[in-house]
Amino acid sequence: MNILFLGDIVGKSGRDIVSSLLSSLKKEYDISLTIVNGENAAHGKGLTKRLYDELIAAGADYITMGNHAFSKKEIYDHIEEMDRMVLPSNHLLNEKEDSHLIFEKYGIRFCLINLLGDVLMNDISSDPYEKMEEILEKTEKEDIDIYFVDYHGETTAEKRIFCEYYQDVIDVCVGTHTHVQTADERMIGNCAFITDVGMCGPYDSVIGRDIEESIRHRIHMEKTRYTIAEGRAVLCGAVISIDDTERKAVSIRRIQIRPEGEQ
Ligand code: FE2
Repeated sequence: MNILFLGDIVGKSGRDIVSSLLSSLKKEYDISLTIVNGENAAHGKGLTKRLYDELIAAGADYITMGNHAFSKKEIYDHIEEMDRMVLPSNHLLNEKEDSHLIFEKYGIRFCLINLLGDVLMNDISSDPYEKMEEILEKTEKEDIDIYFVDYHGETTAEKRIFCEYYQDVIDVCVGTHTHVQTADERMIGNCAFITDVGMCGPYDSVIGRDIEESIRHRIHMEKTRYTIAEGRAVLCGAVISIDDTERKAVSIRRIQIRPEGEQ
């Protein structure tokens, strides 16, 4: 079985590129399960019910989130209905008792987990290790075949360390949050790993944000809004292959589709 994971979908151009390319990507890579990170889908911060529906309609099976999970307040009214959304288990504002999702696909039992890193990250209720141990304990008797973790973190080393530590326990560990794809996808023991999958969003931008505004904010210290850049988009993701008989991950490769004419 092949799983497609798409990195942080940022704003309209991110949503549009996912909608337009997802079905052809599924055919090209023979995908059986699609997971996307949607925490920046609504104007760069958060997700609404309408955009959740849009991503599901575009072909996402599950949507993981991140530090902006609760940025759009309306999400509180729809959390129960948005039952294919996986909230960060260690987000301070997450009041759900369990946020990991357990589901079955072609007889393989998955546990999908979203965790926030604890380096340069706000709003965490516990460090990712404490929460991971809690989840492992809770799912001990669930007969999970594949533990799939979206580790939403700022720094490279913390993600690698998490995967090194859990390589015999979890099967897939994909990094998100920085919006910059890293070229280090590999198996670490039994775990398919990439430090950061990268984003699906505006190509001509500063990790999704308007370039001019970013300069004004950073260099000239101007108080600015957070404006998502417009224009052409890049799509970043990874394809993870699972051996259906052994029920374990065997490979990971990254995907990056840039605008036409960009190499
Ligand atoms: Fe994030």
